Amino acid sequence: MITKLSHARLDFHALEKNWKAIEKRVGKNTTIAPCVKSNAYGHGMLETVEILTKLGAKVLCVADLYEAERVLSHVSSSTQVFCMGGIDAQRVSLLAPYIEFGQLHLSVHSMEDLDQIEKAKVSQVHLHMQIETGMNRLGFSLDDVPAVLDRIEKIEKISLVGAFTHFADSDQDMAFTLEQSLLFDQAQSIFKSRAYESLILHSANSGAILSSVGTQLDWVRPGIMLYGYPPSTDLEIKKEFEPVMTWSAPIVTIKKVKKGQSVGYAREYKATKDLTLATLAVGYGDGFDLSYAAAWVGYKEQRCKILGRVCMDLIMIDVSEIPDPRQGDFVHLMGDGAHSEPTALDLSWIKQSIPYEVLCRIGSRVQRTVHFSHKG
Ligand SMILES: Cc1ncc(COP(=O)(O)O)c(C=O)c1O
Repeated sequence: MITKLSHARLDFHALEKNWKAIEKRVGKNTTIAPCVKSNAYGHGMLETVEILTKLGAKVLCVADLYEAERVLSHVSSSTQVFCMGGIDAQRVSLLAPYIEFGQLHLSVHSMEDLDQIEKAKVSQVHLHMQIETGMNRLGFSLDDVPAVLDRIEKIEKISLVGAFTHFADSDQDMAFTLEQSLLFDQAQSIFKSRAYESLILHSANSGAILSSVGTQLDWVRPGIMLYGYPPSTDLEIKKEFEPVMTWSAPIVTIKKVKKGQSVGYAREYKATKDLTLATLAVGYGDGFDLSYAAAWVGYKEQRCKILGRVCMDLIMIDVSEIPDPRQGDFVHLMGDGAHSEPTALDLSWIKQSIPYEVLCRIGSRVQRTVHFSHKG
């Protein structure tokens, strides 16, 4: 049996195209701070960081200090990391050299975060304050800001260098997004009244960038659009953006199945005719969800049906109509559709989910590689 693993190919040129499309929308004066959290939306954190730094990314956004550490150990000292959550004294102390140097910026959402910073063994912290404007997830409300500033001003090691907010529905509800944006403007007035004149300000995620809200601020924080998918199925971004990842799996064996025989666990599929079946080395252990049994895969530019239940490490597909199927050939599971495979958007519809989840669930067993040549 072939022992190759399923494989995620990252297309440098697709990411470059998406990066340039964002650059064109936000202009040269706004820093693009891409989100590489959650293993770069499943694309492979270090592989993605490698491409982004080649494209000129100067700031990378992560979700917690563990992710921050992984990125920092991989980039040069000129690349900054912005940690959007998860402050604890012990990890702050561990990462103190990066924090003191200003390479790692932290964000603060609660008074408890400030307690942790006070406890940490660190001499200087560059901090961004998150403002709650309507997401009701993390951040200080406008009413709290003066008291938080009072507290921050008493902690000598803190330099407040930024402020940010996060939009709840920027891909669908423009009126609500503008309301959030106005609240963030009000927060800025409070900062100015307290002589914080030159904070780094940021709010825009992909939806906001597409609707040009918050794009005039200092940073934008795109995630999903960078990877080639729209934040919402309501937004058409096909021409400007391209899926970066193509996920494929090798055929480990080919079998003949007779009419009436069953395939796989619980005998969920029963052959209605004689057919040729190929078994692929991918399963739910790699993030190929059970629900994708209702999807298809692309082989030799044709759609093939998935037969029976998805196993942990394997799936079976119908290759009866494919000329000369071969063990060792790679079959496309997900990509831009050029090989008749589904996109992450197609899979999200089947799973009744969102492309974010489809991508983030692609597992650690899947080998990621960066390709500099155009897709074949
Ligand atoms: C705080 C924050 N900023 C930016 C983003 C990027 O959002 P998107 O992927 O919709 O661009 C996220 C994503 O979850 C986030 O949590």
